[in-house]
Amino acid sequence: MMALRNSSTQFGLITKFLHWLIAIHMIGLIIVGWWMIDLGYYSTWYYWAPLLHKAFGIIVFLLGVALLIWRSITPHPKALEGHASHEKIASKIAHWILLASVITIPISGYIFTTSKGDGVDIFLVMTLPALFTVSDTVRDIAIDFHIYASYGLLAVIAAHAGGALKHHYVDRDETLKRMITSG
Ligand code: HEM
Ligand code: HEM
Repeated sequence: MMALRNSSTQFGLITKFLHWLIAIHMIGLIIVGWWMIDLGYYSTWYYWAPLLHKAFGIIVFLLGVALLIWRSITPHPKALEGHASHEKIASKIAHWILLASVITIPISGYIFTTSKGDGVDIFLVMTLPALFTVSDTVRDIAIDFHIYASYGLLAVIAAHAGGALKHHYVDRDETLKRMITSG
């Protein structure tokens, strides 16, 4: 049985579940965001793509909050022996940038989407209301942040995933396995 909680050597089921769910959402949202902005008015997706992008964007925000809370109450596995100190520092920095992005990119999306008082439609099931409105300047900053942070994040994801794959295929250590298998 795989433990729900992390131990000092292993990630538990809840961390793994949140990690991979968030990873798939983030990558999907960047691809969909990039694709949907060029859709023409007559495309079938003109209406649905932004609607789904926003709803899944709010979901990933909630998953990010859940991971932040969960990390604070479950043990954190120790870095593996054999990881160089620059790897430990670089991976920590990357993890914090990744976590910060999961929180701040959706918030920026929410700020510019609701800047004129419109709510965010969640799968036609409910509408997240605009909690406040903002000036055009703030809206423009939120849009710029949304775009630059999202595409910038691709580089961090590449480094993060590249590091995991390097540990797996070059060093042949347990780094990636700890985030996948029941070990
Ligand atoms: C957008 C996508 C991703 C995000 C936001 C993300 C985020 C994170 C975060 C926040 C952690 C730290 C977890 C913690 O300490 O509680 C982490 C760890 C990890 N991630 Fe990702 N990740 C992403 C994609 C990936 C991909 C594609 C891979 C593999 C190819 C991967 C492999 C790992 C591994 C192996 C760890 C554990 C590192 C360790 O032992 O400290 N991640 N990730
Ligand atoms: C982590 C979550 C999210 C990621 C990674 C993400 C990523 C992106 C990307 C890459 C684009 C294309 C930007 C461009 O090239 O102009 C985009 C556009 C957009 N996003 Fe997000 N997004 C996220 C969450 C959200 C949320 C929560 C909302 C709203 C509630 C939102 C609303 C929008 C809108 C309306 C656009 C189109 C902007 C335009 O027409 O110029 N996004 N997003």
